[in-house]
Amino acid sequence: MAPKSSDFPSADSDYQSGFGNHFSSEAIAGALPQGQNSPLVCPLGLYAEQISGTSFTAPRKLNQRSWLYRIKPSVTHEPFKPRAPKHEKLLSEFSQVNSAINPTQIRWKPVDIPDEPTDFVDGLYSVCGAGSSFLRHGFAIHMYTANISMENSAFCNADGDFLIVPQTGRLWVTTECGKLQVSPGEIVILPQGFRFAIDLPDGPSRGYVAEVFGTHFQLPDLGPIGANGLASPKDFLVPTASFEQESRPGYTIIQKFGGELFTARQDFSPFNVVAWHGNYVPYKYDLSKFCPYNTVLVDHGDPSINTVLTAPTDKPGVALLDFVIFPPRWLVAEHTFRPPYYHRNCMSEFMGLIHGGYEAKADGFLPGGASLHSCMTPHGPDTKTYEATITGGDNVGPHRIRDTMAFMFESCLMPRICPWALESSYVDHDYYQCWIGLKSHFNPNNTRNSHNNNGHPEIQE
Ligand SMILES: [Fe+2]
Repeated sequence: MAPKSSDFPSADSDYQSGFGNHFSSEAIAGALPQGQNSPLVCPLGLYAEQISGTSFTAPRKLNQRSWLYRIKPSVTHEPFKPRAPKHEKLLSEFSQVNSAINPTQIRWKPVDIPDEPTDFVDGLYSVCGAGSSFLRHGFAIHMYTANISMENSAFCNADGDFLIVPQTGRLWVTTECGKLQVSPGEIVILPQGFRFAIDLPDGPSRGYVAEVFGTHFQLPDLGPIGANGLASPKDFLVPTASFEQESRPGYTIIQKFGGELFTARQDFSPFNVVAWHGNYVPYKYDLSKFCPYNTVLVDHGDPSINTVLTAPTDKPGVALLDFVIFPPRWLVAEHTFRPPYYHRNCMSEFMGLIHGGYEAKADGFLPGGASLHSCMTPHGPDTKTYEATITGGDNVGPHRIRDTMAFMFESCLMPRICPWALESSYVDHDYYQCWIGLKSHFNPNNTRNSHNNNGHPEIQE
């Protein structure tokens, strides 16, 4: 039963909007019980089923759960069995046994999309990560290259939440809460435990996935910015209920559980939810709606100013995983080195590029590629970018960065790298060369900042 374009929402108004709301949606009016969650017999003869995204006793401000009213309950399936053939490139617990560490700066060229038929599940592979889904603390960064839709099957990730960043090809995502259409330039969050299927209407597709264990994504606090700015809650879109009731013989649930895949058969679609309500939901966000804040006089702000979503740890201000973007924006700072500064960070930074170029790299960092700068590993603009910036001097005026969307997954945990990612033929072994040409501009007689117009430091008399 191939999905059709008309099955998927095309306008924002086809969704519910908001972040962290208690939503409700009915595909048939009257399907939601009134006054209680679990009546003796639900309206329309549906089964009531709760999905909990936090422990039952989590504080109210963190508690996430939804009630699904479905034609048959999820439990109606044959036993799970290890999937054959085994998926060899997924990890949810990172240790010396299965992954390596390397503090060097690593960059990957865009991985080719395979010619042989590959769906989202088979095309998904872990790149790096830290911690453990078993211990409910950690993260994994994956990528996918795929070209066909999932067929007669749904995926369920018992390990954590997926934040998917498509780079090439739209995703038609069918979930238990309804359908989402996600284009490159948008992201979709599929929380732990939700069953979903991904169709690829454009064929060849590629993208990035961050997975967090034991927590969920939140909007960052805004502090002195005030009540508005960055990602606005109203721009997060949540699907409306839709359901399938036809018999689906041989339908397969693929469960990722501790990084391993298991399958179970059932004879119906898991997308049989006629109505639902709650605050534990899949959602999407269009990155072009982000309202960036930035320096308006001097210096380069820390990249945290562009945080879209954050998955927190228990330590205030310390992220298990931040999702940060580098969107089109104006650079206006005076007598300032405008690209990102050279730095070493106690956090680890994985970067990807959806389209365009990235301001700190003149070349080599390509759409669909990636880089990893681990904890305390130095990095910053390449030689070409540095030289072009100081040669440009102070008289460059306001400059608009256009036609780009780079992003970063940043974590306080130290990532271990999967062997297939470290040994991949797409590793750019010449990456270090982009900094080797940085030459000394040291002049012991110059004690002033450069405020002149030719970019060369003035000599103080
Ligand atoms: Fe950095």
